[in-house]
Amino acid sequence: MSNAAILKIGEKEISLPIIEGTADEKAVNIGALRKETGFISYDDGFGNTGSCQSDITFIDGDKGILRYRGIPIEQLAEQSSFLETAYLIIYGDLPTAAQYQDFSNRIRNNAMIDERMHLIFEGYPSDAHPMAMLSAMMNSLGCYDPHLATNNRAQDLANFDEAAAFAISKVRTVAAASYRMSRGLPINYPKRQLRYAENFLHMMFSYPYDDYEPIPEVVNALNLMLLLHADHEQNCSTSTVRMVGSGGANLFASISSGITALWGPLHGGANMAVIEMLEEIHADGDDGSRFIEDAKSGKSGKRLMGFGHRVYKNFDPRAKIIGAACDDLLNKLGISDPCLDIARKLEQEALADEYFVERKLYPNVDFYSGIMMRAIGIPVNMFTVMFAIGRMPGWLANWKEVASNPKTRISRPRQIYQGHVLRDYVPVEERG
Ligand code: CMC
Repeated sequence: MSNAAILKIGEKEISLPIIEGTADEKAVNIGALRKETGFISYDDGFGNTGSCQSDITFIDGDKGILRYRGIPIEQLAEQSSFLETAYLIIYGDLPTAAQYQDFSNRIRNNAMIDERMHLIFEGYPSDAHPMAMLSAMMNSLGCYDPHLATNNRAQDLANFDEAAAFAISKVRTVAAASYRMSRGLPINYPKRQLRYAENFLHMMFSYPYDDYEPIPEVVNALNLMLLLHADHEQNCSTSTVRMVGSGGANLFASISSGITALWGPLHGGANMAVIEMLEEIHADGDDGSRFIEDAKSGKSGKRLMGFGHRVYKNFDPRAKIIGAACDDLLNKLGISDPCLDIARKLEQEALADEYFVERKLYPNVDFYSGIMMRAIGIPVNMFTVMFAIGRMPGWLANWKEVASNPKTRISRPRQIYQGHVLRDYVPVEERG
């Protein structure tokens, strides 16, 4: 294949270089387009636009492939842990035993948040959304350790290991504290002797007098859920983190913007929306068939939440893993959840329905993750927070990739202006 694409616009012909990725992905580099022709490219929703070159995560949406740093998600789900996978994503390789020890010690030793942050929690109303608190608090972390959040790229990079450990560790503490405050419960301090997932469950569920007793199946399910969310290349929130980071913003400011971007129901908020949908179907006495018809007709803006993906057009490998793990967990805990039965029925019907088949709409990771989280005891309004805890390694790795590349340019897309071309200001007295 030639290493250039020829573009002809009117009489003007230009040659645009082709970039090839290590897994055969191909792109036309249109960097010279505007300079050479006066045109810009237009791609609504960036469906065909590569915004960066990255070494972190590979997805082949047609084949249902997801790999972190080259390692298939299925192998990691089977054999790794969330923290080991986080190291892989952030640093590029699986850690040696000594590297893992260092990394997990840094995380273990940095779970506390500054005591003064508790005062900020107290100022929120008890029904404040935990995603709003998480985003604000993760940004605020930088205020308590300003040497980690200088907005000077070289300095922020020099302290990256410490800042990354803070983010991965403290995001759990902030999340659990927001839950405790919303229930009017005292905040539980983290315990150094507990492992990552167990410590989170303790901060969430230990009562003042009784410690939460970790159930191994629940701990494993939580670990798996976090691992499956750990990165997903250039989705809405990760692209946001990269964009904010491209302007030189520090790591905490950048991940805080990622949390905000994750919140929407088409992205990380879908896991909440799925459970709300399943509960609505259950309450209506529908077995799912009526809802599917509504989603197909787009009636009242309804969509089959947890279905469809911009990139996966065959299956979402995370959904396969989490669907099976969800069954397993519910069986082991002896839980019978009518929402799981409805979800199975919806999946079966949609996969055989022409509308969904034609549009290549399959269950995504959010279709089953909510049912799993509910079984773990996580309240619905915390589901997207759990996604954010899981996605932290991906955001950190992407921020680092942007910050450490000396060729990084600030992200600054163009637009096609469609408004008034030129008109005069009219004083208020003349406007009527
Ligand atoms: N239910 C019904 N119809 C759908 C759905 C759905 N869940 N998703 C897409 N469609 C239809 C859509 O109406 C359109 O139909 P038509 O061609 O007739 O206009 C067609 O499929 C293409 O949809 P699109 O909105 O152009 O696709 P997109 O790539 O822009 O959006 C999506 C991808 C994930 C936002 C979308 O599929 C969706 O809204 N799904 C439900 C929300 C959801 O589960 N989001 C979680 C995504 S996975 C977690 C994450 O990484 O964020």
